[in-house]
Amino acid sequence: MVNILEQLKTQTTTITIPEHYKNLSVEEMEKRVLAVKEKLGKRLFIPAHHYQKDEVVKFADATGDSLQLAQLCEQNKEAEVIVFCGVHFMAETADMLTKDAQKVLLPDMRAGCSLADMANIQQTERCWEVLMDTFGDTMIPLTYVNSTAAIKAFVGRRGGATVTSSNAKNMIEWALTQKERILFLPDQHLGRNVSFELGIPLEKMAVWNPITHAFEFDGDIQDAQIILWKGHCSVHENFTVEHVKQIREDMPTAHVLVHPECPFETVAASDYAGSTSYIIKTIEEAPAGSKWAIGTEMNLVQRLIHEHPDKEIVSLNPHLCPCMTMNRIDLPHLLWSLESIETEKYIHEIKVDEKTTNDAILALNRMLERA
Ligand code: 13P
Ligand code: SF4
Repeated sequence: MVNILEQLKTQTTTITIPEHYKNLSVEEMEKRVLAVKEKLGKRLFIPAHHYQKDEVVKFADATGDSLQLAQLCEQNKEAEVIVFCGVHFMAETADMLTKDAQKVLLPDMRAGCSLADMANIQQTERCWEVLMDTFGDTMIPLTYVNSTAAIKAFVGRRGGATVTSSNAKNMIEWALTQKERILFLPDQHLGRNVSFELGIPLEKMAVWNPITHAFEFDGDIQDAQIILWKGHCSVHENFTVEHVKQIREDMPTAHVLVHPECPFETVAASDYAGSTSYIIKTIEEAPAGSKWAIGTEMNLVQRLIHEHPDKEIVSLNPHLCPCMTMNRIDLPHLLWSLESIETEKYIHEIKVDEKTTNDAILALNRMLERA
C-alpha cells in the first residue's frame, strides 16, 4: 500500500482487474500484448525494473535500475503512453520527467513500495522543524528516489536532491559541499552504508525516528553530521550478517554481493555492494566457474541464476526474498493496461500535480545533472 493521501493526489481512480483477464491463457495474453505493441510501435514505451517478473520483462522495451529508468523516461520524447512496469514512486518520477502530453500508466495501483511508505510529508515537515531548531541553517535534505513526489518536492524546495543506489555516493559528497549536515530519507541503511564508505564514522550518524518524533543518538547531538530517517526496505532487511556467516561456511570460495539497502552489518560483512545494475554487471563480468551469493530481490536473483549457468549463483537468504509489490505487476495486469490505451479509457494513469512536479523536478534535476 502506498501512502494513501499522497497517492490520491497522483491518481485518477483505482479499479480492480476485470475477472475475464484472469481466465485467459498465457498464449492468448501474450498474443494480445504483442498485438498492442505492434500496433502502437514507438507511440508506446514499456520500461521495466530489474525486479519485475520474467513474464513482464519479456515484453519490456528497456530494463534498468531506478536511475536508468528515470533517465530513459526523461529522454523519450516520442512515446504517447508509458506503461511503467515497476512501483508507484517510479511511475510518479516518470510522469514528472516527461512532457505533459505523455501519459504514464501503472498496471496495478497496489504496486507500492514499503520503504517509500515509511516517510510521509507531514512527518518530514515536523522532522525538519526540529532539525532547524537543533542545527539552524546547516542542513540539506537528500531523498532516495524511493519516496513520494511530495517528499521529492519538499527536498527540491530546500536546495536538496534525490539519490538512487547507483549515485548516492556522489550525491552525499555533493551535499556536503552545500551544507554541514544531511537529512537522508527514507532508507537508513543506504544512507549509513554509503556515508560510511565515504569515511564518515558511525558516531557522526544519528537516527531520526518519525514515530517517536525523536533522535536516536548516544552523545551530543551537535556532533551528528548525517541524520538518517528510520526507514528500511522490508525485502533487503531479510539479508542478515548470519546469512553471510553461513555462506562463508557452506561456500567458502563464494563472493557475497548485496544491494546497499541491506543492513550495515550485512554490507560490511559482504564483498561487494551496489545497485541492481551493478549486481548484474558484476555477474556478467565474473569468470566462468566463480561462485556468488546474492542479497537482493528474488526475481533478479533467479534471472541471474538462469542466465549464467556457467557460474554458481545462490540467494544469500535461502528463503528467496520477493518484493510483493513489484510482483503485483503480472501479465494479466500488463495486458489490461495496454488494452486500455486503445479505448482511451486509461487505467491507473499516474499524474503528479503541477506544483509538486515543479518543486520535485528541482531535486531530480540536481541528481540527473550529476549522474
Ligand atoms: P535500484 O534498481 O536503483 O538498485 O533500486 C532497487 C530498488 O529497490 C528499487 O526499488
Ligand atoms: Fe521498495 Fe524494497 Fe520493493 Fe525496492 S525491493 S520496491 S525498496 S520494497
